[in-house]
Amino acid sequence: MKKLITGGTIATATDVFEADILIEDEKIVRIGVNLSVPDAEVIDATGKYVFPGGVDPHTHLDMPFNNTVTDDDWETGTIAAAFGGTTTILDFCLTSGEKTLADAVKKWHGKAEGKAVIDYGFHLMVTELNDETLAQLPAIFEEEGITSLKIFLAYAKEFQATDRTLFQAFKVGKETGAVVMVHCENGSVIDELVEEAKALGHTEPIYHALTRPPELEGEATKRAIELAHIAGAKLYVVHVTCKEAVDEIIRAREKGYEVYGETCPPYLTLDQTALEKPNFEGAKYVWSPPLRPKDHQQPLWNALKAKQLQTIGSDQCSFNFNGKKQLGKDDFSKIPNGGPFIEDRFSVLYSEGVHKGRITINEFVESISTNAAKIFGLFPQKGTIAIGSDADIVIFDPNVEREISAETHHMNVDYSAFEGMKVMGEPVSVLSRGKYVIKDKQFVGQLGSGKYLKRSVNSDPLKKVSETVISK
Ligand code: URP
Ligand code: ZN
Ligand code: ZN
Ligand code: ZN
Repeated sequence: MKKLITGGTIATATDVFEADILIEDEKIVRIGVNLSVPDAEVIDATGKYVFPGGVDPHTHLDMPFNNTVTDDDWETGTIAAAFGGTTTILDFCLTSGEKTLADAVKKWHGKAEGKAVIDYGFHLMVTELNDETLAQLPAIFEEEGITSLKIFLAYAKEFQATDRTLFQAFKVGKETGAVVMVHCENGSVIDELVEEAKALGHTEPIYHALTRPPELEGEATKRAIELAHIAGAKLYVVHVTCKEAVDEIIRAREKGYEVYGETCPPYLTLDQTALEKPNFEGAKYVWSPPLRPKDHQQPLWNALKAKQLQTIGSDQCSFNFNGKKQLGKDDFSKIPNGGPFIEDRFSVLYSEGVHKGRITINEFVESISTNAAKIFGLFPQKGTIAIGSDADIVIFDPNVEREISAETHHMNVDYSAFEGMKVMGEPVSVLSRGKYVIKDKQFVGQLGSGKYLKRSVNSDPLKKVSETVISK
């Protein structure tokens, strides 16, 4: 099976050029100008960008959380991801409540198998580390090709780790090469502020933001940075939202610490006032860390541009407004935390970033795809357009203007956090390992066609440069 993508403008993390791409079975086999391959199916990409498929390093599909479970599963979630231009996700495998880590991973495979329409890997989400789990980690990493774990410094009643547990996780990171991902907020102090607010009779969604001030994100970020440094581990700070946290990351990186940072489209484009919407609509914008006052957006864009933040995650964690979000109708602290972003991550970053001139097209590809593939051990199989890479490709029309809406999205939720936002550009067709998942804006993929990705430790991920080889 051969496909020839002709006439498009290929954009990778390092190059922008016009060339054709020959795909044979699952791989890119040639890149060149005016290729002629008579037995190939031709895909005309004239006037379009040809991007490597998006790599979303942060999703929560079908995950038990906040006394309920997220509303997008591996079918709706991965289909929506594909519509949005994402061809690889790394989802968080929850380990709490399972007897062994192997049981937890098995359960997660069960959720994905037969449903996923794009490729996927797992991070381990570790809520408790004891001698038993510590002993299991190296074997699970080895057998499952998992190279990353997440620790929470927030959600005091559910997931929060002690500093000691965090430090033990960093020691495991040092020993195994795994990336330790940390949710940086001070959950204990947040709990105290939440109790205070409730004692004063505050129930509305805005108190979710007011009880989680940015200083507590900055403080936890600095703590994670120093503990990772002492242990000698790689740290990846998930969902960075504010100046305070960005400043700590920059300071650490300037000292040569191996710290990576991720931010998410809502923090770059929405602000805390969304939580003040009347009739409980603010609950649509409740996730953690919360949206910040508008003045935090520019520092995030600056850090992305300066490569001090490296990746864009969706933090997909969807709950229907006229459904599970209502659990917090009378108490903001009971609103399930999370929002629906897996589908719009790619387009919002393209439109707000590239179209509005805040980042270059190479910086866009780097942060939406390449860097996550590198940091999490998937490069160059994923994250670029190069000979030998998987043919995960997005054909993107930069000239369409459209409006994001729950009416037209494919996520299994009744609202969009970006409702009414006008964006330039749209994925038209999306290939996963050489096969169409989306063709001319229609889903044509197959449930269960997504493959589990075993990953490998990348000891110095962002030093490797992607090279595109042009053949004649
Ligand atoms: O509110 C959020 N972000 N929900 C998902 C869980 C997490 O903290 O990443
Ligand atoms: Zn988190
Ligand atoms: Zn501020
Ligand atoms: Zn998350």
